[in-house]
Amino acid sequence: MDKKIETLQNKQREALLGGGEARIDSQHKKGKLTARERLHFLLDENSFEEIGMLVTHRSTDFGMEKEKYPGDGVVTGYGTINGRLVYVFSQDFTVFGGSLSETHAEKICKIMDLALKNGAPVIGLNDSGGARIQEGVVSLGGYADIFYRNTMASGVIPQISAIMGPCAGGAVYSPAITDFVLMVENTSYMFVTGPNVVKTVTHEIVSSEELGGASAHSTKSGVTHFACANEIEAINHVKQLLSYMPQNCEENTPAIVYDPTDEHRPHLNEIIPDNNSQPYDIREVIAEIADENTFLEVHKDFAENIVVGFARLAGRSIGIVANQPAFLAGVLDIHSSVKGARFVRFCDSFNIPLLVLEDVPGFLPGTDQEWNAIITNGAKLLYAFCEATVPRITVITRKAYGGAYDVMNSKHIGADMNYAWPSAEIAVMGAKGAAEIIFKRDITAAEDPNARWLEKEKEYSDIFANPYRAAERGFIDEVIEPADTRKKLIRAFKMLENKVVNNPRKKHGNIPL
Ligand code: HXC
Repeated sequence: MDKKIETLQNKQREALLGGGEARIDSQHKKGKLTARERLHFLLDENSFEEIGMLVTHRSTDFGMEKEKYPGDGVVTGYGTINGRLVYVFSQDFTVFGGSLSETHAEKICKIMDLALKNGAPVIGLNDSGGARIQEGVVSLGGYADIFYRNTMASGVIPQISAIMGPCAGGAVYSPAITDFVLMVENTSYMFVTGPNVVKTVTHEIVSSEELGGASAHSTKSGVTHFACANEIEAINHVKQLLSYMPQNCEENTPAIVYDPTDEHRPHLNEIIPDNNSQPYDIREVIAEIADENTFLEVHKDFAENIVVGFARLAGRSIGIVANQPAFLAGVLDIHSSVKGARFVRFCDSFNIPLLVLEDVPGFLPGTDQEWNAIITNGAKLLYAFCEATVPRITVITRKAYGGAYDVMNSKHIGADMNYAWPSAEIAVMGAKGAAEIIFKRDITAAEDPNARWLEKEKEYSDIFANPYRAAERGFIDEVIEPADTRKKLIRAFKMLENKVVNNPRKKHGNIPL
């Protein structure tokens, strides 16, 4: 037995070395951790159980039978994060550049199947040159097996992808299907084809960083939800993100112990400027409403006219969707609609109640928006709210104009509680524009058209630039003093805790894509 144990230990030692010392050094020189080091920082101490450590590839072309590494470029298994079960895979760039072979894919599929059967999140640490070129179609098949599982698991268990190195080709599509993508600045890239292919096909000269770095994907494309300064920050973000989620769609996120303090927040009475076209930062409102330092903003640098993220309210996880008057006046456009819709759908999939803070002047007009389908894209946000069955509360802080009033979690599309601050203006449009349209003849015929316009603007404003018409109809449940918002929300979400809504039975809806 001693000899046999020694043989086992030798094999394990070999597997722990991945592609060998030299390649590990080169990984470190690039400022990157190895696949195993990443898992060490991600998982609770001594919690990792590896699966498939001795798997090798079956490829024989190009002399591959002579070049085998136990584990075949990916470390897979399960462990815990803050005591909660997670399944993990961590690609090893030191073995064929983390490229995906048939067996590498089988290992990932195995842990995805286990995760789905046992109802726990999957976290992928990606560092891969894409399909293993020596294997041809079997590696493409391996990718497709993963994509299929990603899709089947979507909405059942949370899936998180951290991009820790260059990810090309197939290596980007699996993350794209998962719920959240994190990238590391300067050492991680995502592209369907790299700069060389781009140059050949389009004659465009672009660096990897410009084309698919963390900055490009966190600000321009929105492909990544988080751009992190380094790998440790990315790993910590994954852990924080997980803390707001349940293990699967049948469960609720565990609440943390909450110590009630004074819920009256007088600063909220001072945030809205006197002039209704002056901006303010909605994050200031969020900071006052949420439990201290619990707001985790998602997609922070993308479509900044809408702010989305997780927070805790009296210890319970909630998702916040808020118009941002400090950026483009909080207008809804294509990117902000898609960003909001995706977040709403995640929260709804995983039983995370939604809080909407509304201050929106409407949808952004113009050819750019129309030709790029603001109609279809804006409809995504509308659809996402309409179908959401989690507890849903809206607070209108200021403007709720036009279609955006309907879209932003209005009572009519299923919100449970709708509050407005006394500063709310709920109307078809701003008073100035409204007066110009409906009193056009009157204004033009007047001796002093400008004075007449101002008079009519005031008339419209007196009638509609307030929350009371909506409150009279019951579209607003209560007009509240801003300082009481936190208290009201804590009570209302508690009241909605056992909400049950069953949408009509269907195969699946057809969200406008
Ligand atoms: C096999 C690969 C590989 C791959 C890298 N390697 N990519 N081996 N298949 N796809 C190996 C290299 O031969 C090298 O081996 C080691 O990994 C490190 O690679 P380097 O090029 O030295 O590293 P670096 O300079 O950091 O560049 C990393 C890289 C680059 C940007 C990822 O290697 C690259 O462009 N690779 C090819 C990317 C690609 O086109 N993949 C196929 C996509 S198509 P040694 O022995 O020297 O250590 C695809 C189809 C699926 O994925 C589509 C589904 C929708």
